[in-house]
Amino acid sequence: MKFLKLFLLLFVLQTQAQQGGMWIPSLLKGMNETEMKNLGMKMSVKDIYDVNTSSIKDAVPHFNGGCTSEVISPKGLILTNHHCGYSQIQSHSTVENDYLTNGFWAYKTEDELPNEGLTVTFIVKIEDVTTAVLNGTATLTNEAEKQKKIQENISTLSATLSKENWQENKIRTFYEGNQYMLFVTETFNDVRLVGAPPTSIGKFGSDTDNWVWPRHTGDFSLFRIYADKNNRPAKYSKDNIPYTPKHFLPISLDGIAEDDFSLVFGYPGKTNEYLPAVAIEQIVNELNPAKIEIRDRALKVTDGFMRKDNAIKIQYASKYASIANYWKKWIGETQGLKKSNAVAVKRDAEKLFQQKIIKAGKEKEYGTLLADFEKNYTAIAPYAVARDYFMEIVLRNTEMLSTGYKLYQLEQLYNVRGEQAFNDRRNNLVTGLADFYKNFNAVVDEKVFEQLIELCATKSSKQFLPQSLNNVNAKNLASDVYSKSKLRSYDTLKQLLSGDAKTVITNLNADPGFTLVKELGEIYAKEIAPKYDEINLNITALQRTYMKAQLELNTDSRIFPDANSTLRVTYGKVKGYEPKDATIYSPVTYLDGVMEKYVPGDYEFDVPAKLIDLYNAKDYGPYGENGKMPVCFIGTNHTTGGNSGSPAIDAYGNLVGLNFDRVWEGTMSDIYYDPSICRNIMVDIRYVLFIMDKYAGAQNLINELKLVHSKKKKTVKNNNVKQL
Ligand code: ARG
Ligand code: GLU
Repeated sequence: MKFLKLFLLLFVLQTQAQQGGMWIPSLLKGMNETEMKNLGMKMSVKDIYDVNTSSIKDAVPHFNGGCTSEVISPKGLILTNHHCGYSQIQSHSTVENDYLTNGFWAYKTEDELPNEGLTVTFIVKIEDVTTAVLNGTATLTNEAEKQKKIQENISTLSATLSKENWQENKIRTFYEGNQYMLFVTETFNDVRLVGAPPTSIGKFGSDTDNWVWPRHTGDFSLFRIYADKNNRPAKYSKDNIPYTPKHFLPISLDGIAEDDFSLVFGYPGKTNEYLPAVAIEQIVNELNPAKIEIRDRALKVTDGFMRKDNAIKIQYASKYASIANYWKKWIGETQGLKKSNAVAVKRDAEKLFQQKIIKAGKEKEYGTLLADFEKNYTAIAPYAVARDYFMEIVLRNTEMLSTGYKLYQLEQLYNVRGEQAFNDRRNNLVTGLADFYKNFNAVVDEKVFEQLIELCATKSSKQFLPQSLNNVNAKNLASDVYSKSKLRSYDTLKQLLSGDAKTVITNLNADPGFTLVKELGEIYAKEIAPKYDEINLNITALQRTYMKAQLELNTDSRIFPDANSTLRVTYGKVKGYEPKDATIYSPVTYLDGVMEKYVPGDYEFDVPAKLIDLYNAKDYGPYGENGKMPVCFIGTNHTTGGNSGSPAIDAYGNLVGLNFDRVWEGTMSDIYYDPSICRNIMVDIRYVLFIMDKYAGAQNLINELKLVHSKKKKTVKNNNVKQL
């Protein structure tokens, strides 16, 4: 009887309208398979994740720790977003040889460009290790001690659990400390740039279109994984050979249509789906507005310079894009949370939950949870704002200050660990900062500094403001610091860091850039961080208990773990949406839309002449559909940052698209997922193929791919390359 009930419950849940979620690939069988099949999936969950034979997971590596990529050829060719490969494309670019503007294509493997520091990581297997990680913690009541014990267990297990010597063990927590999973991984570090369209395709629409539908961006780039002669990870060598993958994705030429099943497989970074209302309120009313205001100012300054000076544009393009990206996201998120009444919705749910706690007789365990949240979030508010100010102004947006902070850490290292440690770190810094200074312009940074210091001085509460910023004239301070500080150029920085430790420390403490950072850093370390960390530790513990309570008492809903940069599956359908009254968005865009947006010479909306010619000739080869060239499409897959570059896979396991963004109305899905307006944005894979083939003439690459007609033939099974 009990079983029947459970079965019925699971059945009901899995046939209901899909509600988002980012699922653990090794646990799809019980949790999701029925729902996936109901949505139209034709393969089995073993085709997606399997440890014993190769499966789709073997074709989906984490790209440089922040994005996702997928293997699309038997020779280790991988596809990711243009914005994920952006800094690599930029680093090979010069004013004379500008791959950002013109694109880059390797027509022979010898032309592929190595990228120092770039890695891709595959998942070999996933295992639940909760019991081992929590071993010996049940009796510990002090939260800090408990966390320490958990960390010790994790270190021991990571070091001792079996793996091959070229692999790594990584243990990550799920459900806020209620579950732990082991990931055995393989990281490759010879990854070469193979192809990228010009920015006018790969970043078409730029920041104006970012986070927005309808979208017309060909946001892709191509890389290749190289391995040693045993097909194992190896550092760069010209003798390395293209990696032979365990699996690569066939590519469907049949495209998609509204209501088709779609699955996105990748590494979503971080979500906060289980926050209490009071936390969301704080994000909407305090934290997001503070961060948005800071970035507003920084971006305005940089944009002004970039528009006037091409060299500055190349230096700052990548940094600007990444700062603008989250700035815009926070604006959309705040708007979406307000519009969907997320706080009120959560408050109502919390009232019901409180009743549930009482009804279940769990008051002793969970009765004060929500009240404790209120207390702790109220207490943390001023520290959280001050911390964001420090992070955004010192560490993120003012480059002289963020470099200065590294030197402040150097001084502290000397105080704690002495001369030898100092020398090692100093030498690393000197080498490491060479690249940073290539893209640093002191004139731009001085203006940013002026704007942000002014904000800091007027908005910070007294207790968090350094003496020297009391009633400061930001403009005068800026011109003083930037004319005198040796942090203003690489040459003067090297001077500043030369000599023995004592000399360097003395000189640092006479440098006005350094002393300002030091004042700010000390206030942060003494007045902000300790209190913030203390309250935050309470919040972490509460959040874990809250999660446990929800898992226990909300048995009528399937609860997925928040994103944590581990491999996840999300699925849904290709679908349009209605963002507002009387407005309907269809799910597919076409090249016609690129031409509608075309503004000749504009840095966001210019279109390359060759693309215009192809459009006029309707020369789409096998990639077009009814005389039109599809460009992007949207679906109900629940994604977040980190899912960039994730493959969008059809019902049969073939590649149909490449995830790169979300729609404006739904950017709040990291906190509150509303299925009616949350959509992910993907490039149609046929547009990628069209650009590679017709635009770039890269037949060498097209020939490596396995192109299939998935709606007629099911091909997922026989694509496994023999394991070496
Ligand atoms: N919004 C997308 C993501 O979060 C794309 C960002 C890159 N594009 C840009 N115009 N900044 O990463
Ligand atoms: N562009 C994002 C990324 O870099 C994906 C969009 C999102 O946040 O959903 O991962």
